[in-house]
Amino acid sequence: MRPDPTQLIEAFRRAGQGQVFAFYDRLSPGAKARLVEEAAEIDLAEVDRLVRTLVAAGGPQPLDLKGLSPAPYERLPGRGGDSAQWAAAAAAGEAALRAGRVAAFTVAGGQGTRLGFDGPKGTFPVTPVRHRPLFQVFSEKLIAAERRYGRALHWFIMTSHQNHAATEGFFEDNGHFGLDRSRVHFFRQGRMPAVDFTGRILLDGQGSLALSPDGHGGSLRAMARSGGLDLMASEGIDTLSYFQVDNPLVRCVDPAFIGWHLLRGSEMSSKTIPKAYPEEKLGHFCLRRGRLEVIEYSDLPMDLQREKDPSSGALRYEAGSIAIHVIDREFIRRMARGAGELPFHRADKKVSTVDAAGCEVRPEKANGVKFELFVFDALPSARNPVVIETARADDFSPVKNAEGVDSPASCRADQLRQYARWLKSAGASLPTDSTGLPDFALEVSPLFGYDEGSFRESWSRLKPPPALAEGLVLENSGK
Ligand code: UD1
Repeated sequence: MRPDPTQLIEAFRRAGQGQVFAFYDRLSPGAKARLVEEAAEIDLAEVDRLVRTLVAAGGPQPLDLKGLSPAPYERLPGRGGDSAQWAAAAAAGEAALRAGRVAAFTVAGGQGTRLGFDGPKGTFPVTPVRHRPLFQVFSEKLIAAERRYGRALHWFIMTSHQNHAATEGFFEDNGHFGLDRSRVHFFRQGRMPAVDFTGRILLDGQGSLALSPDGHGGSLRAMARSGGLDLMASEGIDTLSYFQVDNPLVRCVDPAFIGWHLLRGSEMSSKTIPKAYPEEKLGHFCLRRGRLEVIEYSDLPMDLQREKDPSSGALRYEAGSIAIHVIDREFIRRMARGAGELPFHRADKKVSTVDAAGCEVRPEKANGVKFELFVFDALPSARNPVVIETARADDFSPVKNAEGVDSPASCRADQLRQYARWLKSAGASLPTDSTGLPDFALEVSPLFGYDEGSFRESWSRLKPPPALAEGLVLENSGK
C-alpha cells in the first residue's frame, strides 16, 4: 500500500521529526514520492525509544560486569577435548548434510570502506595467484561440499540497499560461479536512520534521509521478511551455517560444528579461537547473568582483556568470537518476531547532511549517531548454545583493513600457509619459512581441496605430482 503523504508528514511532525520534510515543497513530484517512501520505512516509535535510551542519556550505560566469567567451550581434541565426542559430532553433522538439512548463510551487507575498496566486499579479489573474489571462494567451497555430501545446497546472501544490485549483477556476470542460480538467494537487510546528538533524524540531501544498514543482527528479521525461512521449511532445511563475507578461510559448512549444534539441541552455536594477544579486536565469549554472551572488544575493560589464568598462564578471556555460527531456523523466526529483542548499539559517525538552508554539510568529526544490531546478541536467548574451538589456521583470516592486521596481505599469507600445510601433510616437500609461509605463491582451488583430507585425496590422484613452483594453480574439478 502506498503511504499517504499528509498523514506521514503529520506523524513525523507529532514525533518531533518534522525537519525531515523541511524541503518537501521544493521537491519535484518524483523526489517527493521517493522521500515519502523512505520515511515510510521508519518506525518512529523505535527511533523515539532509541533516542531516549541511547542518545539522550549521553550514550549507553557501561555494561554491568558483576559476576562476569569466561564462557566454557568445547576444546579441540588436541587441546584437551574428547576425540570420541568430536567424532560423534562430525558424523552427526555429515548425516545432516547428506539429508539436506543445512543451508549456508552469508552476511555481505558491508562495503569495502575500511579496505579502501570500492564495491561489495564479496567482490574483492582475495586469492594469491588468480585473485579470485571472496564470493567465488565460497561458491567453490559450497560446490565441493555438494559433491562430497551428494546434496545440493541453498545459499542465502544478505546484501544492503547500497550493494544489492551490484552483488546480484556480479553473480550474474560470473555464471553464479558454477552454482545452480535457483539455489542462490539474495535479500536486502533493513535500514535505520541516523540522528543528530539531539535525536533529530538527519537528511542526507533535501529529498533523502541519512539511512544506513541496520547491522548484521538485522539479518534475522530480514531473512524472515524475505520469505527465506518459509523456503527453508519447504525444502526440509532446519539449520543455517552462518559466516561473514570477509573471511575466505572459513569452512562454509563444517560437519563437526553442525554436529555439536544438533547433538546438543542448540538453537545457536558459535566457533571460537584463543585470542592471539589481549588487544586483538575480537568479541569475547562470556557468561553474564548466567547466560552466554559476546562482549565486544570495545566494551570489555582492557584490564580484563589482559587478565591471565594463574595456573595455565593463558588469557582468562581467551575465547574470541570469529563470527561463525550455526543457527536453527525456528529460532530465527522467533527472534524475528521480536522475542528476546536484540538491542541496538550506538555508533557515533560522520554523517553527510544538509543545513537549515538545505546546503550540503560534510562534517569533519562525528555529528550523528547510527544504530546497529549484532547477530551474536541473539545468543543469550538461545536454548543450549554451544561454543566450540577451532584452529585459526583452518577457519579465520579476515580481510578488513587496507594494511597490517586482517589485511589482503595477511590474508594472502594465511592462505599460502594453509596450502603449504596441506601439501606437506600429503607428503610433498616445499620450502617454507619459520611461520610456514612458502617461498613462492601458489593456489589451491576449493574444488581441488578445501581441507587437509580432501586435499590429500586429490593430491594422491595426481600421477606424477606436478612440480611445485611459483604460480602453480591446483584446480581439477575433482568430482
Ligand atoms: C566483527 C565482530 C567481532 C568479531 C569479528 C571477527 C561486530 C560488531 N563485531 O567485527 O565480534 O570478533 O567480526 O571478524 O560484528 N555486515 C553486514 N551488514 C551490516 C554490518 C556488517 O552485512 O550492517 C557484515 C559485513 O559485510 C561483514 C561483517 O558483517 O562481513 C562484519 O562486520 P564489521 O562491521 O566489519 O565487524 P568487525 O568490526 O570486523
